Amino acid sequence: KEMLDLPSHFEGVIQDTASSATLCAILTAREQASNYQINQQGMNKNNYRIYCSSQTHSSVDKAVRIAGLGQENLVKVEVDKQLALKPDALQEAIESDLYHGLQPLCVVASLGTTGTTAVDPLTAIAGICQEYKIWLHVDAAFSGTALVLPEYRWMAKSLELADSFVFNPHKWMFTNFDCSAYYVKDVQALINTFSILPEYLKTKTRGQVNDYRDWGIALGRRFRALKLWFVIRNFGVEGIRERVRCHIDLAKELTAKIEQHADFKIMAPTLFNVVFFRFNPAIDSVEELNARNEKLLHAINASGTIYLTHTKIADNYVIRMVIGQTYVEERHVQKAWQLIQETAKILDSTE
Ligand SMILES: Cc1ncc(COP(=O)(O)O)c(C=O)c1O
Repeated sequence: KEMLDLPSHFEGVIQDTASSATLCAILTAREQASNYQINQQGMNKNNYRIYCSSQTHSSVDKAVRIAGLGQENLVKVEVDKQLALKPDALQEAIESDLYHGLQPLCVVASLGTTGTTAVDPLTAIAGICQEYKIWLHVDAAFSGTALVLPEYRWMAKSLELADSFVFNPHKWMFTNFDCSAYYVKDVQALINTFSILPEYLKTKTRGQVNDYRDWGIALGRRFRALKLWFVIRNFGVEGIRERVRCHIDLAKELTAKIEQHADFKIMAPTLFNVVFFRFNPAIDSVEELNARNEKLLHAINASGTIYLTHTKIADNYVIRMVIGQTYVEERHVQKAWQLIQETAKILDSTE
């Protein structure tokens, strides 16, 4: 909490994944809003609405389905040019739902979307959630690690107004899978949602220690905190900062090189350690360009040397390169860039 400068009133529990943490957030929001009655009686009639941007990770769709709220009640709010949620559009969607007798339940804001690491405007979203008394869950699964750097704290402004927050040390904080740090404002709401006490779970220490089985879905738990503790001990806070800064610098250096190349194009801003680009020879057809980039991605991955992923921005196929391996150095990134250029050249000559 101190490392990321998270609000001091947050209380945390380690979950397996961000998907589980987000499910916990949505279930807690549901239970709190129903005065904990849905747990008892089931859902009679569902009026609840959940909001996130069109770029939000699919774990929210999954959580909404599992929580019995229904995919159709997940409102995908429009994004701006940077692919971040538009607060005006959020407010309009809420107003429209209220007008139609629906009940706004939860907003999920992303600090770093999966597709393009877009950062939703937290202060404006938190203001709306306060105004309409809606649960605010913040998904910082990947990019949340950047909060160790004071220069990235801007993205967490107003985080103290959030009801829940998740980030994954197993993504970009050098910790082996799985380890997801979940924080909540009101731990009692979390416990009221998940607590269940059969005879065989009554212990002498009840009330004196945190029974983490009541802070999430699973009963049995791995000792995930131990490996995270070793990571922090091994690198130290400054050491973690140094590595994270190094990854971001490497990503920015690669971005500059791609920008200078006539046949490649940067497709989204490099805010963190992920670079979004495509091979961009002079071809008019979007389909043809997309097909070339898909072929390029598969050829690069088939080399077995590096592994890249992709997304689509509007209709454009975009290749993503994540520079987040703990000990990655400039020479590795340079070698990867070399491979990308050479593979593109070979494919181009065979077209
Ligand atoms: C923004 C974001 N949220 C949630 C997730 C889901 O993470 P997990 O695999 O820990 O469930 C991801 C995974 O890529 C992600 O990028």
